Amino acid sequence: MKIGLSEASRAVRGARLACGAMLLACPVMAAAPAAPTPPAITENAFRCITQMTHVRHYYVDNLAGDLAGTVRAAESTTGEPYPVGSVVQLVPTEVMVKREKGFNAATRDWEFFELDVSADGSKIRTRGFVEVVNRFGGNCFACHIKAQSQWDMICDNSHGCDTIPLTRAMTGALQRTDPRCKNPGPPSPEDAAALAQLGAMLKAGAAAAAKK
Ligand code: HEC
Repeated sequence: MKIGLSEASRAVRGARLACGAMLLACPVMAAAPAAPTPPAITENAFRCITQMTHVRHYYVDNLAGDLAGTVRAAESTTGEPYPVGSVVQLVPTEVMVKREKGFNAATRDWEFFELDVSADGSKIRTRGFVEVVNRFGGNCFACHIKAQSQWDMICDNSHGCDTIPLTRAMTGALQRTDPRCKNPGPPSPEDAAALAQLGAMLKAGAAAAAKK
């Protein structure tokens, strides 16, 4: 629908009238500085996982310039909240990004992403908060919320989350064969074996799901 000029001016007049009716609220509203719009997170926020910063067995980044804060949280032996802008990845296709304070209280401001990755880069397959489900039917939040609170929803393998069937050999192989990276050659025999094992596991899982 096109809004004609007269309708637009009526709308402006209407707004002025509404403002007049709230004598107190309006000047306050006008004086309050506009809340800064958080930078949009697009697929450009994501890149070759091995070019991110390696901390223990996973990779981190910070979109807001506080990489040191993110690394400190990831290296902490007692746990601390990750700063705004933190990006955390164990495998190329699943990402947690720490959004601005107050973005989503339930997920402690983490936004979950599932990506499709290829030599052309990253495409966002799904994103969001408590509702995000990965391609295997797992709800990110339902698992990650089980981490003891000092770990800020980071599961690791000892923070209280249900375990995932991926071994560190498999996650390491997925990292080293991220198709977004300029990999020097074919995977090492160890990585190829871990990926073959993972492939067999996924196939068996899909077959079992199809029988249900
Ligand atoms: C079945 C439970 C489960 C589901 C579902 C799940 N995760 Fe995880 N996730 C884990 C566990 C457990 C680890 C740690 C594994 C390890 O360190 O070996 C992990 C690790 C991670 C990490 C690395 C940091 C950490 O917490 O250790 C990120 C990032 C992550 N998952 C994101 C996601 C996203 C995004 C989704 C949904 C698209 C998702 N996960 C779905 C259980 C789950």
